[in-house]
Amino acid sequence: MGEGGLTIFACRHTIAAMIKATTPPPSSPIQPAPDERAVVMHTWSIQAEWNAPTIVGGKGALFWDEHDNAYIDMSSMAECANLGHQHPLVVEAIRKQAEAMCYASSAWGSRPRAELAARLLERSGFEGGRVFFTLGGADANENAIKLARWATNKPVGKVLTRYRSYHGATHAAMELSGDNRGWTYAPGTPNVVHALPPYCYRCPFGLQYDSCGIRCADHIAELIEWEGPNTVSAILMEPHAGSNGIVAPPEYWPRLREIAYRYNVLLIADEVMSGFGRVGHWFAWQQHGDVARPDMMTLAKGLTGAHIPLGAVVVSRKVTEHFEHQMLYTGLTYSGHPLACAAGVAALDAYRDEDLIARSHDLGARLHTVLRFLEETHPSIGDIRGQGLFAVVEMVKNRETKEPLSPWPQTAPALRRLVDEGRKMGVSFAVRGNLILLAPPLTIEQRHLIQALEALDKLLPMCDAEVTKKRDERAVGSEQ
Ligand SMILES: Cc1ncc(COP(=O)(O)O)c(C=O)c1O
Repeated sequence: MGEGGLTIFACRHTIAAMIKATTPPPSSPIQPAPDERAVVMHTWSIQAEWNAPTIVGGKGALFWDEHDNAYIDMSSMAECANLGHQHPLVVEAIRKQAEAMCYASSAWGSRPRAELAARLLERSGFEGGRVFFTLGGADANENAIKLARWATNKPVGKVLTRYRSYHGATHAAMELSGDNRGWTYAPGTPNVVHALPPYCYRCPFGLQYDSCGIRCADHIAELIEWEGPNTVSAILMEPHAGSNGIVAPPEYWPRLREIAYRYNVLLIADEVMSGFGRVGHWFAWQQHGDVARPDMMTLAKGLTGAHIPLGAVVVSRKVTEHFEHQMLYTGLTYSGHPLACAAGVAALDAYRDEDLIARSHDLGARLHTVLRFLEETHPSIGDIRGQGLFAVVEMVKNRETKEPLSPWPQTAPALRRLVDEGRKMGVSFAVRGNLILLAPPLTIEQRHLIQALEALDKLLPMCDAEVTKKRDERAVGSEQ
């Protein structure tokens, strides 16, 4: 891919210096930070191994550390900074709201809360519905389940979710997630049933798309039958992207909708990662048209572009009506926090005014074209999936046998090195298991996207070195 990868290596200090030149200096000198490793318990880490640079600033798709090293953010941090870092509209909205009124509980009205709810309902077309605000994705899912159980008059109704899904790490959300990260303890939330995932690359039914007839979706109907339709309240699934890297075939979600109607079960779309343009639509289910509308959808991450924590459950008219004259037995001190809602209003304006949803769609198409090109030269790439500015690259030791680079959910040492070396080249990549998750901010400048992909091209040989020969060649080789 030319010499461009070297350009970024040479430029990383320049980029940081350029941006910092336009950023006003802090009014007081920055005190040396305490050693974070000694005092903070970091998520998803072996504490003794955590050793990351301290981030002190950012702009757009770039952020930089205290030693002036700049990084291109190829994962929007935790697939959440969809608007890039320090979006000026959002920062300004938070500042203004902070000056006016930082907090109002749910016992009182708050203008940004009402504005954000109205805009969310309008963008998603949930006419006559309402929004329940939470603090993030996990509690949005937990509250959605509670609403579903009440609205279907099945207080302990079962919830169908998938293996290789992720719905959050709080107690019940971890149980909802069919994720190895929940294997380490038993949350014990009753009545969660996991289905086999729509994983075309390694179909759990041993079938091929599309002669399979989307068996994985019909499997959900079978599970409802086996469990007893009267005992099931909801199906909760990610309609597209997720950190488990499973992307269902296009027919899957509309079929789920039809199944949910057939059995009078509520369909909940977890749009925490896939929402707000990540896959080239405001919300991923919308690519299937209005017929695929879920009964509820859960949001977080891109809702404020991660400038402030905020989650939401967007509720359909049907579910809303259930609670119109009944007590809603749930609450959060910070539900609809004005600062967060003001950030949300500004974020929604930024997505619309900067045409970022279409940008994700178009720039994403280019990202996928480049990845297909990389696939030709890097034998460790087994599969590429996703759409918009979200791509999952699944790494293998052998394309023919699909032997993974490391057994799921382990991350191969070569991929860990790829992340470390990427940082040294000024690019921040995210990996999970055998997957490279590419999800840059929707605002990423094309030149930064190209630079990051050039860096990836230079890093992938570390994984290619792990590729084994075809099975038959190995057998012949061992006989010689
Ligand atoms: C699809 C999905 N749902 C829920 C969550 C949990 O969100 P949070 O970390 O804000 O609780 C995540 C987080 O990655 C997610 O990707």
